[in-house]
Amino acid sequence: MAYDHEAKPPSHMEQVIDYNAAQVKQEAFGFMSYLTGWCTERKASTLIDIILKIKPQKIVEIGVYGGRSVVPMACALKALGQGTVYGIDPWNNYEATVGVMNTDNLNYWSSIDLQGIKRNLMQKIAQFGLENSIILIESTSEAAPAIQDIDILHIDGNHSDVTSYFDVTKWAPLVRPGGWIILDDMTWYENGIFTTARAAEWLNTHCKKFAEFKDDSIWGIWIKK
Ligand SMILES: C[S@@+](CC[C@H](N)C(=O)[O-])C[C@H]1O[C@@H](n2cnc3c(N)ncnc32)[C@H](O)[C@@H]1O
Repeated sequence: MAYDHEAKPPSHMEQVIDYNAAQVKQEAFGFMSYLTGWCTERKASTLIDIILKIKPQKIVEIGVYGGRSVVPMACALKALGQGTVYGIDPWNNYEATVGVMNTDNLNYWSSIDLQGIKRNLMQKIAQFGLENSIILIESTSEAAPAIQDIDILHIDGNHSDVTSYFDVTKWAPLVRPGGWIILDDMTWYENGIFTTARAAEWLNTHCKKFAEFKDDSIWGIWIKK
């Protein structure tokens, strides 16, 4: 009996999509191994799945550091052949310490070579062929120009109370209805205070909570109403 190529079982499409996602993830995890930062493969995998599913045109990331989250997102955009991820970060020691209370964190963020980390990331973006999918904006989230109609917002900047609350209240309103908002380190704890709690609470009030993940850190996803 001849095989009917048109009569594909529903699972066939799922296999095709899984196969593409697996290819993207394999490439992204390889690139991540050359980058500094905190995004885990598990988190990158979820970000890639979301991007492949919703096919965004505009992603904004607040807090890029060495690119461990911006690069896997760019890999997914490149695979789709569309969209840009805007990575906003001042790569500046003073800005990285604003509002930070814990001594170890203060020491880390005031001494790490952030400009060197940015230079390495730019070199890697070119080496990985991701220049057409990433625009880096060297600025604080406060000074950066507003970007309208964001499809996905990833907030992972300075985790102090004042800055994380500012980041959410400036950028979440710029996400389109139905767009996705990811807040990293939603239980960041310094000197007896959950510093990102006000930011998470704002999202709970103004958006619909979709999921919470316990990884190296606890991070959450909200959908813009
Ligand atoms: C936790 S790291 C980002 C980690 C990265 N997303 C990852 O997954 O590896 C936080 C970054 O926020 C940046 N940052 C600090 N203050 C900022 C501000 N006001 N606006 C935007 N980024 C800021 C720091 O320079 C630092 O690179």
